[in-house]
Amino acid sequence: MTVTPETRFRTSQLEENDGPPVNPTDNRTMGEIIAARFSRRGFLMGSLAVSAIAATVSPLALIAADEARAEEGSAFKFDELEAGIDDKHHVAPGYDADVLLRWGDPLFADSPEFDPLKQSAAAQARQFGYNNDYVGFIPIDGSAEHGLLVVNHEYTNPHLMFPGIVSIVEKDGKRAAEVAPLSKEQVDVEMAAHGGTIVEIRKQGGKWRVVRDGKLNRRIMSTTEMALSGPVAGHDRVKTNADPSGTKVIGTMNNCAGGVTPWGTYVMAEENIHGYFSGELPEGHREAANYKRLGIPEGAYEWGAHYDRFDLAREPNEPNRFGWIVEVDVNDPNSTPRKRTAMGRFKHEGAESIVAKDGRVVFYLGDDERFDYVYKFVTAGKFNPNDRTANMNLLDDGTLHVARFTEDGSVEWMPIVFGEGPLTAENGFASQADVLIETRRAADLLGATKMDRPEDIQPNAGNGKAYVMLTNNSKRKAEQVDAANPRAANAFGHIIEIVEDGGDFAAAGGKWEVLLKCGDPSVADVGATFSTATTAHGWFGMPDNCAVDSAGRLWVATDGQGPKATGRTDGLWAVDTEGAARATSKLFFRVPIGAEMCGPLFAPDDQTAFVAVQHPGDGGEDWEGFGRPSYYEDPSTRWPDFKPDMPVRPSVVAITKQGGGKIAV
Ligand code: FEO
Ligand code: CA
Ligand code: CA
Repeated sequence: MTVTPETRFRTSQLEENDGPPVNPTDNRTMGEIIAARFSRRGFLMGSLAVSAIAATVSPLALIAADEARAEEGSAFKFDELEAGIDDKHHVAPGYDADVLLRWGDPLFADSPEFDPLKQSAAAQARQFGYNNDYVGFIPIDGSAEHGLLVVNHEYTNPHLMFPGIVSIVEKDGKRAAEVAPLSKEQVDVEMAAHGGTIVEIRKQGGKWRVVRDGKLNRRIMSTTEMALSGPVAGHDRVKTNADPSGTKVIGTMNNCAGGVTPWGTYVMAEENIHGYFSGELPEGHREAANYKRLGIPEGAYEWGAHYDRFDLAREPNEPNRFGWIVEVDVNDPNSTPRKRTAMGRFKHEGAESIVAKDGRVVFYLGDDERFDYVYKFVTAGKFNPNDRTANMNLLDDGTLHVARFTEDGSVEWMPIVFGEGPLTAENGFASQADVLIETRRAADLLGATKMDRPEDIQPNAGNGKAYVMLTNNSKRKAEQVDAANPRAANAFGHIIEIVEDGGDFAAAGGKWEVLLKCGDPSVADVGATFSTATTAHGWFGMPDNCAVDSAGRLWVATDGQGPKATGRTDGLWAVDTEGAARATSKLFFRVPIGAEMCGPLFAPDDQTAFVAVQHPGDGGEDWEGFGRPSYYEDPSTRWPDFKPDMPVRPSVVAITKQGGGKIAV
């Protein structure tokens, strides 16, 4: 297998989702225009960055923006945080942002304390995993202050995790970092650091604490046995040497966003599965086109060197067992997670759900790749609020739909059903299992709308709308622009708002409009559409995760900002969606340099916002002014001002209002 230093570095997954063949023009991208703009400013680092940004907004302008927001009836009441770049996290004045969980924190009575110099798979299996992404909360006994936190661990950054694997070499007269191959022991740590964590937490004296050894605490890993269920279970295309039944899969990986179902289970989306596979399919193998459509194998990980199942030459069907939505019953720590194949196979971003008017349950699903699609799954059965057990297999039977957005502002949800339209033997499908295994090809044939990297999609029970985060797509050419993806070389992404027909989330169609085109609104070429009440701190680019609080307000987290892209770190922004204040955005929290912002999630009483800080520090060695590398050195020297409570490890942070109360009211 080939693993280059570049792929082994696996820096943040920004722009890593290469879609179908692309032909970039010679035109400058918006990213290049912005980069030029920031370099003209004489880009400043560290604490100076705050003043550099702030210097572009006069105090008078800030007051004017505040007044404009008040006049326009913004739903958010908090003093805006200043955008900037440094190595710490920051929250708006009047709030505390406390680290709740970090990579390596012990979860069980017998867990070893985190020691980065003594890592082992056995230790990691008893500790909080790496690169936290989705965060969910499942109340215990209906409490908003006591529950299970469920957290996805999306992927691993070996250069930030393992001491001694990076060496600095001279290449063509330049300093370059090289990453050594991982040992089998290190690969095993990676496999244990993936997956998810289920951990009991409790709020006492206004602060959240982890209940170490809570009886439902659990780690899900890339080594956890799970079941394939639904239409694909037992199909020939998912049978392997280790599993001739085609029903028993070992592990899950690249669990990006996810969801909590109305019946209190935890669903994990398997996103960038292509990186874990290496090797070559046997000549003429039937899965060649299927795997090509997903970029398999990418070989960014070295798992195939140590485990046959990740080597296509040895286990050609194994990739068909990944790329699903996984459901975990958190009430039983010994339950077998189930891969719900009825929900389709692609690079699943998230799975937020809502109960429709007639009791069926609707899941919104993004496929995060340039030019890929927005999906919606509607269960066949109805949610029973009085009988949890009756809901436990709802996800095995239902209809997956893919979205076609039309110029007249309507969206059509097209069913992906074997035997309907082009999904027939003529196109190589013999069953619904075939259709689901190759969901992307089925959606291609149906004529779905190619989107700018669909990430999180959040339904809002309060107003019957759903918000679709579209991160970016620098590869969209001018002739590929359409109404729902209105910018060529879309460097900063946009947000689409869907209003389902009749306010019914299970509807076959609806209306849509662009809520927001992201990026710096002061650069005319960017074409951003934030309201004029949005300050220079309030705009953002690259929307990725999002949340709706119980007041129905939208919060957007970003992935991929930084000095070169937008001159600010990623963070959490409050976005007005209603009335005259619509498209006004305010910065609430920002992450340390190199991190992306995941989560976010509001506790049921809206008194806590949980956010996930993923890969802090990643890529920092390229950012002049910090004077320190971002690959692993030693916990005491990795950051000059290292403190145990700083989120220099991937971490979940709990944000609360000083003195108590709901967030931003
Ligand atoms: Fe894992 Fe699409 O972000
Ligand atoms: Ca994401
Ligand atoms: Ca992301």
